[in-house]
Amino acid sequence: MPDFPLLLAPMEDVSDPPFRALCKEQGADVVYTEFISSEGLIRDAAKSTMKLDIYEKERPVGIQIFGANLESMLQSVEIVEKSNPDIIDINFGCPVKKVVCRGAGAGILKDIPLMVKLTEEMVKHTNLPITVKTRLGWDNESIKIVEVAERLQDVGCKAISIHGRTRVQMYKGDANWKPIAEVKNNPRMHIPIFGNGDVDTPEKAMEMRDKFGLDGAMIGRASIGNPWFFKQVKHYFKTGDHLPPVSLEERVDAARRHLQMAIGWKGEKLGVFETRRHYTNYFKGIPHFKEYRMKMVTTDNSEGVFDVFDEVLEKFSDYQFS
Ligand SMILES: Cc1cc2nc3c(=O)[nH]c(=O)nc-3n(C[C@H](O)[C@H](O)[C@H](O)COP(=O)(O)O)c2cc1C
Repeated sequence: MPDFPLLLAPMEDVSDPPFRALCKEQGADVVYTEFISSEGLIRDAAKSTMKLDIYEKERPVGIQIFGANLESMLQSVEIVEKSNPDIIDINFGCPVKKVVCRGAGAGILKDIPLMVKLTEEMVKHTNLPITVKTRLGWDNESIKIVEVAERLQDVGCKAISIHGRTRVQMYKGDANWKPIAEVKNNPRMHIPIFGNGDVDTPEKAMEMRDKFGLDGAMIGRASIGNPWFFKQVKHYFKTGDHLPPVSLEERVDAARRHLQMAIGWKGEKLGVFETRRHYTNYFKGIPHFKEYRMKMVTTDNSEGVFDVFDEVLEKFSDYQFS
């Protein structure tokens, strides 16, 4: 592990094996699956179990689960163990209503004793490292992350990733990294504290390291359509310079490989369908691209999509990305 690892954040419908592989190739040091429902896992729901697929080339990889029921969480730990991840991460930060109203994700921020208890029991139940991803607190009035982090560490949590927003903020406003630094600077803390929220330039990653003194940066949205972000940050750390913009050829190559890997993983039909959502991001900024994007997202076989990629290469060969 480098001194300041870059972690690919768990992201629903984004952090799947093809996307994780692309980020890994471009320098992500640790990758996480999207969150997986513990209730879904114990019911053997196909949608949840498929999310357990991990590959040797992406190690170290964490599988993230969520839930609020102790028995279900412990049973799902046993199921997750069979996939042999390097880490089991607990999601105590998802702000989405359907998760929160069941007391899971960020909902648990209203019941810190349960959060600590779940973590403690999961630690006792497995030999794999248990880590936590959470937010600063439920709302501005209830930020107790310094105390919460201490308690999680005390029950054996091995690392904590903290998104610098409260549940009430959802994704609004700026992420506040100060409370994350307070957790890190607490002399009682010795486990790694990873910062998360709004790292979208190499400069911000550097600030998280040098000004806030955190142990690593977890990167989410900045990597969507831009798996090169990890390499860009690392290059900046090493040289103080920015890499040149990613070329059209590299973008087409990434989109092509993303689709190939998706088909390899879940078959032609689902692969073609579920990779569609990524194309806009790979080709963001190209003017008058709509016609090609439409073709990419309406063509229902991979051969057709690959042909559109070839057309794009030809048509926009002169376009300079900034
Ligand atoms: C599309 C999307 C899906 C997400 N899904 C998850 C998830 O499954 N588990 C989780 O812990 N956080 C999830 N998050 C939150 C991110 O992991 C991260 O905490 C948040 O986006 C802030 O980081 P960023 O500013 O680098 O994107 C998701 C975020 C986005 C944008």
